[in-house]
Amino acid sequence: MMRPIGFVRSPFEDRSEVPRGLGAKHTQEGVLEILPELEEGLTDIEGFSHLLVIWAFDRSEDFELMSHPPSDNRPHGVFATRSPFRPNPIGLTVVELLRREGNRLHVRGVDMLDGTPILDIKPYLSSIPMEELRRGWLAEAEARSKRD
Ligand SMILES: C[S@@+](CC[C@H](N)C(=O)[O-])C[C@H]1O[C@@H](n2cnc3c(N)ncnc32)[C@H](O)[C@@H]1O
Repeated sequence: MMRPIGFVRSPFEDRSEVPRGLGAKHTQEGVLEILPELEEGLTDIEGFSHLLVIWAFDRSEDFELMSHPPSDNRPHGVFATRSPFRPNPIGLTVVELLRREGNRLHVRGVDMLDGTPILDIKPYLSSIPMEELRRGWLAEAEARSKRD
């Protein structure tokens, strides 16, 4: 039903190499290599500064309904986290589009392993004002870590 539209080229070979936890910055550059036969679908993408990349956690074998995120010492329901161990192993990453070279999109902000299958790409159009965003347990964990 779903098939990869391309693959991520990333400097990360192993999960342990990807920055994680509170304050982790995702500034690594990578390339989204789109299948040549789908290149026409990238027409006009250059005008967007940021993209949503929808991808598959192809190296996650199982899932857990309660996750133990590195950003907190308390467990949280999987759907309240960005855990790689989910019933449907789908990842979502916002990246900055640096440039396009044909079917290759050079981006900044990858947190995927090298060779990760890409399922879809869409322009990122944020419409929710910062003051309306609630960040749930993550905001509480950040406040606790500043106190400790
Ligand atoms: C916390 S998840 C967040 C991913 C994405 N930003 C999201 O919100 O869906 C990021 C972690 O997924 C893991 N990961 C990256 N690529 C993967 C892959 N292809 N298969 C399994 N795990 C992967 C790495 O350990 C990385 O630190």
